[in-house]
Amino acid sequence: MNIQNIISQMTLEEKASLCSGLGFWETKAVERLGVPSIMMTDGPHGLRKQSGDTDHLGIAQSVPSTCFPPAVLSACSFDRELLREMGEALGDECVAEDVRILLGPGTNIKRSPLCGRNFEYFSEDPYLSGEMTTAHIKGVQSKGIGTSLKHYAANNQETRRFSSDSRVDERTLHEIFFPAFKKAVQEAQPATVMCSYNRLNGEYASENHLLLTEILRGQWGFEGIVVSDWGAVNDRVKALAAGLELEMPSTSDYNDNKIIAAVKSGQLEEAVLDLAVERLLNLLERVKGNGERTAFDKDKHNVLARKIAAESMVLLKNDGLLPLKKDAKIAFIGEFAEKPRYQGAGSSQVNPITMISALDGAAEYAKVTYCKGYSIHDCEEANPALEAEAVAAAKAADICVLFAGLPPAYESEGFDREHMRLPGGHVRLIEAVAAANPKLVVILYNGAPVEMPWAGKAGAILEAYLGGQAGGGAVADILFGASNPCGKLAESFPKKLSDNPSYLFFGGEGDAAEYREGIFVGYRYYDTKEMDVLFPFGHGLSYTAFTYSKMTLSAPAIDDTEMLTVTVDVTNTGKTAGKEIVQLYIGPMQQDERLIRAQKELRGFEKVFLQPGETKTVSFVLDKSAFSYYNTKIKDFHVLSGAYRVIAARSSRDIALETEVNVSSTVQIPFFVDVNTPFRDILRLPGGPEFVKGLAAQAPMFAQGENEPGSLGFMFEKMMQDMNMRSLLMMGKPGATLEGFQAMLDAQFNQ
Ligand code: BGC
Repeated sequence: MNIQNIISQMTLEEKASLCSGLGFWETKAVERLGVPSIMMTDGPHGLRKQSGDTDHLGIAQSVPSTCFPPAVLSACSFDRELLREMGEALGDECVAEDVRILLGPGTNIKRSPLCGRNFEYFSEDPYLSGEMTTAHIKGVQSKGIGTSLKHYAANNQETRRFSSDSRVDERTLHEIFFPAFKKAVQEAQPATVMCSYNRLNGEYASENHLLLTEILRGQWGFEGIVVSDWGAVNDRVKALAAGLELEMPSTSDYNDNKIIAAVKSGQLEEAVLDLAVERLLNLLERVKGNGERTAFDKDKHNVLARKIAAESMVLLKNDGLLPLKKDAKIAFIGEFAEKPRYQGAGSSQVNPITMISALDGAAEYAKVTYCKGYSIHDCEEANPALEAEAVAAAKAADICVLFAGLPPAYESEGFDREHMRLPGGHVRLIEAVAAANPKLVVILYNGAPVEMPWAGKAGAILEAYLGGQAGGGAVADILFGASNPCGKLAESFPKKLSDNPSYLFFGGEGDAAEYREGIFVGYRYYDTKEMDVLFPFGHGLSYTAFTYSKMTLSAPAIDDTEMLTVTVDVTNTGKTAGKEIVQLYIGPMQQDERLIRAQKELRGFEKVFLQPGETKTVSFVLDKSAFSYYNTKIKDFHVLSGAYRVIAARSSRDIALETEVNVSSTVQIPFFVDVNTPFRDILRLPGGPEFVKGLAAQAPMFAQGENEPGSLGFMFEKMMQDMNMRSLLMMGKPGATLEGFQAMLDAQFNQ
């Protein structure tokens, strides 16, 4: 395709026509010039290719495809290679169906457990989200298929999804809500980025020039096209000028005509439209494939889906009940055992090729009894008859495996959850069964954290989340010890909803959703606040045990332009082979009054497989980004010089080893000293201590001799730190002026 040549032959109408969809899922063709139409479909964990009725809510049927575990579960694998494999498999399915763009992955940060779409997102942590997202995109795109990184940006609630205004400060955006998008763009170049429905700081994402052009293309180097979320365009002309090339789905020429009129009236330069068309044509080239629709191996994908699920599920608690003994009398209780909840509701809902329940999976290993316990679609209240049956089954069994969780009506795209509880009927059932038989294992099927006031009554808890089509098999693999659990939580489980840092503000006031917790999202809040949680970020048990030893650093001190290598030895000290996820956190040794920051942040992780008795050395290479924060003055990341903790941990709360490194910044933040600058800031400048001392010497009360802690001199010295030159006027000598003070400061510091 000679793109420039094609553009030069296009009419204004043809160019505008390319800027929106043909129908729900296709772009428009310009047949006379050989411009093809391509198809895109959801995404992200399977294909939702609709061949009949179309919708963006997962209502109409789609062709069968492998339903891999949604992001809420796959993120817990902390396994880049596995995510990449999943992406490759998804890419193969796209090739087979002639789908050229897969609408995913979604990488919004889990700000609150209440967001109805959390199941589609990876984590509360930007580093983990970025790693998983990048691997997913690389996998899909390695097959010549495009992805759509979504929903850009600050799309963290479903309430008022078409009108809400996420009000987020600049630093928080760059440290928490942008990094996963940035990393994916820089390391994987998704073919498209999907803008979100919401406004960001007053302006719709779809027409936000700062987001779509200055940051995405200007700062991060994005080379693909921006597509609107379905129906996210508010003002088409403004959106095009802001950098939104493709509006989806079709608006039956309504918005195309606006573009034409704007060009004709001179409101929009035709060059803007030409650039959009050039990018769209480039996209078509990039994802066109070789015209072949090669079939994929369904069984192989099903095996992969089961492996991903088994390597992601998180064993939250185990008082020795698991793995199950195959010859024990085992009772499975709860309708989810038979009819699993395996994916979230809404646009990501795929039509699975096959389905295995945990009950089917268990049959591969042992004989178990089953009773329903509750009815999935009517379980807010306990069902006395089903409960009585469950209690009887529990009494007759050696051990009970109870399946609880969130039915679809409790969480979905399109609305947020109202609370963090399980259905009342599930809680009642857990309590009744635990009273009948204390050997109780609880399996959870849910897309986001739930409160567990009953946790003390269960001997083991497996967080199976939403497992995809093979999730039931994975549960059985873990229960019977064929798989050693090796997932860890990609999000914190607070004890109760009101502990969550966004609790007071989540959902917003009218359309205004203020992110007042700032950078303190997830464990950044709980850990800094030293608050007890139910299960911390990064937590997950295994059937074996790991010890950490010999932490080394490549240097005790570095400049921020240098790399730091950290190594740590991990040994499997148990009797079973298993995988450990080693987490590396960095935090300041001491809080510094110049910068409010989290106690520690995840800056690396590695998953290692170890045979019993085996030791491996895990290494991490850290650059400046591991130590930096976003500085709004220089509009860039910056390192505050000082000592940092380097922490190797099993979870954000289970620190195995820790050491310290000194990092020096090579970037000076411009600092202008004026008469209002407190002396505490002046004291940090070269020559500052001498300057302040000189002033103090002129005021007898500040010169009390030794200034030992507790002395009057000490008190005055502390007071002086928060005074400034202007405050000296009141006790100044006759003739002292602000102008004179400023001249003194300029001469000393502002050269
Ligand atoms: C969702 C997107 C999805 C699109 C197409 C929208 O409602 O927010 O995630 O890709 O529909 O189904």
